[in-house]
Amino acid sequence: DRADIVVLGTFVADLAFKAERLPVIGETLLGRGFAMGPGGKGSNQVIAAARAGARSAMITRVGQDAFGEMARQTWSGDGVNTSHVLIDETAPTGAAFIFVSSETGDNAIIIESGAAANLSAADVRAAAQLISGAKVFVTQFEQPIEAAIEGLRLARSHGVTTILNPAPALPVEASIYAHCDYVTPNETEAATLTGIDTTTEEGAVRAAARLVELGAANALITLGSKGALLHGAAGTHFVPAFRVAKVVDTTGAGDAFNGGFAVAIAEGRPPLEAIRFGSALAALSVQKPGTAPSMPTRAEIDAFLRAKG
Ligand code: RIB
Ligand code: NA
Repeated sequence: DRADIVVLGTFVADLAFKAERLPVIGETLLGRGFAMGPGGKGSNQVIAAARAGARSAMITRVGQDAFGEMARQTWSGDGVNTSHVLIDETAPTGAAFIFVSSETGDNAIIIESGAAANLSAADVRAAAQLISGAKVFVTQFEQPIEAAIEGLRLARSHGVTTILNPAPALPVEASIYAHCDYVTPNETEAATLTGIDTTTEEGAVRAAARLVELGAANALITLGSKGALLHGAAGTHFVPAFRVAKVVDTTGAGDAFNGGFAVAIAEGRPPLEAIRFGSALAALSVQKPGTAPSMPTRAEIDAFLRAKG
């Protein structure tokens, strides 16, 4: 019962609707395609990590239903350890409605976490052995924050590197940041969490500095096609994103980045190299539809990075 990457988070079924643009209030649009597939930030990140070659484990709750079965198949297909996936008899597996604009690739999402909303601090403590034996622990905010805090605290107390991907951005006690080696919001989440406008580069740097002031060892803000910003003990660094010729679907790009970053950190790579590795996963994932299914394999990642020199 060991894994190098342990992810606490959600699995949900992604119901993705494509239309020319996102609908406005009261509007009905004709769709340009529908697809259903495995999603949820935690599960996407664990799939990204597993395909990138790390021994990976998932901690969550799913329901006893068809989407729960989809989850099992998704994880078994990529060899994810599920010894701490609980079957919740009282709640259904979660689902997300995803609207994707076929023009711009932009998206808007409503997620219902379902059974994963019942994840408790006690569930996390029950996985203490798995967590303490990991190299990197990763969590997000789609399941209760108390569970995230317990996981981060437990991992940190055993010297496991902790990554908090604070998505979706929710009001949270600042004390959570003290348990984070890396806090990895995207630019909008960073703005919500800090109240600082992150649309300019100086703004993003100030928001990162604020997260470090609040207690995170490092803030790593992803800036979409612009790249990523790392601020921490080793100073402030900007890493540009890879150019992508044709963006198909950006949903889950942040998950690809976080999963890849975690794997590279677990392999002992320096943070800037780990960011480049995570960026490669993100660049590859946006060229394919869907979230978890668009995560690249290690062979694809290595080939991509070799081609980029
Ligand atoms: O980060 C992308 C994910 O967010 C989607 O898979 C969807 O399930 C939402 O949770
Ligand atoms: Na994708």
